Amino acid sequence: MIKLPGLIDIHVHLRDPGQTEKEDFFTGTTAALAGGFTTILDMPNNKVPIISLERLKEKIDIAKKKAVCDIGFYAGSLGDNLKELMEIEPYVFGLKLYLNKTTGNFLIDENKLSKIFSAWKSDKPILVHAETDIIEKVIKQVSKTGKRAHICHVSTIYELKSIIKAKKQLLPITCGVTPHHLFLTRKDADELGSFGLMKPEIEKNYKEFLWKNLNYVDVIESDHAPHTIEEKNSGKIPFGVPGLETTLPLLLTAISEKKLSINRLIELCFENPRKIFNIKTDKNTYVEIDEKEEYIIDNKKLFTKCGWSPFAGWKVKGRVKKVYIRGKKVFENGKLLVKPGFGEVIEPL
Ligand code: DOR
Ligand code: ZN
Repeated sequence: MIKLPGLIDIHVHLRDPGQTEKEDFFTGTTAALAGGFTTILDMPNNKVPIISLERLKEKIDIAKKKAVCDIGFYAGSLGDNLKELMEIEPYVFGLKLYLNKTTGNFLIDENKLSKIFSAWKSDKPILVHAETDIIEKVIKQVSKTGKRAHICHVSTIYELKSIIKAKKQLLPITCGVTPHHLFLTRKDADELGSFGLMKPEIEKNYKEFLWKNLNYVDVIESDHAPHTIEEKNSGKIPFGVPGLETTLPLLLTAISEKKLSINRLIELCFENPRKIFNIKTDKNTYVEIDEKEEYIIDNKKLFTKCGWSPFAGWKVKGRVKKVYIRGKKVFENGKLLVKPGFGEVIEPL
C-alpha cells in the first residue's frame, strides 16, 4: 500500500448548475474521490457563465448541498464584467479566460484580454485556454502587467517551447497538462471518433515531446469535461472527455513502468496545485493506494454521470482503496461512505 496526500485537480467542469444531465456536483465529486482527488477547482463555463458574484453564490449554495469532496471555483469573463471582477475575486481561486473557441460561448479577443489583465487587481492566477500562437498574446500581457498566468492544458510542441522560454525569462507563468495529452496519441483519438474529440486536440508526436519535457510542467489537470453519450453520437458533437477517475490510475501505471516517480506525481497533483492556487490542505486528508492491483477501466464502474471514458478497456496498475478527508473515511473499495454535502466549499487562504 502507498499513502498519498488527498490529490488536487485544479481543472474540472462539473456542469452544475445548467447542464446536470452531463454531470452534477454529487456525481462529479464522487468521481473525484473514486479517482483519489479530495479537492477540485471547478471552471466557470456553465450554461449561464459564472461572471458575477450573484451567479457564483448560487453555484456555491448548490455545491454545499451536493458535494462529497472539497470544491472551489473560478470566475469567468467575457470582458464585460470588469467592475464585478473584483467583487467576485475574494471567493475564487483565479480567473479563467478562453482565447479559442470551445464548449460554451466564452471567447474573448486580444483587446478584451488586455482590459481584463488590467482590471484583475489580484495576485491570483489568470488561467487561460490559449492554443498555439495565441499563447504569445498571453505572454505579452504577463510581461506587460506582471500578473500571474496559468496556461491550461498545454497541447502543442509550440506552446510548450514558448512556455519554457517564458519560464527561462522568469515570467510568472505556470502550466498544466491533461492526462489525455499525456497518454493518448493522435491515432488513439482518431479511433475514438467523437469520444476522442476535445479542445485542445491531440497533436501528432506531442505525447513523446511532452514526456521528455515534463520537468517544465507544473500541474497535471484532468480537464474533466463530461458530455453525454447521446451528445457525442449526435450531429453536433461537443468537445471534451471525462478524466477524474482515470488520471491517477494512468499515472500510477506510468510509475510502475518507471516513466514517473511517486515524488513527481505528488508534486504535479498536490504540492504545485496547493502552492499555485493557495489551497488549504490537511494532513488527515489522504488516499491509500494498492500500487500492485491491476484492473481494466470499465465504463460501467464509473461514477461520472456521463458513463464513459476515452480510456475504457485500458489495463492500469494501481488502484484507489480508501480515501480520508479530515480523518473521516469517505470512500472505500468502490463505495462512497458519506452523504451529499460532506464536502466543503473552499475559499483561497
Ligand atoms: O474539450 C474541452 N471541453 N475543452 C474545453 O476547453 C472546454 C471543455 C468543456 O467544457 O466541455
Ligand atoms: Zn477545461
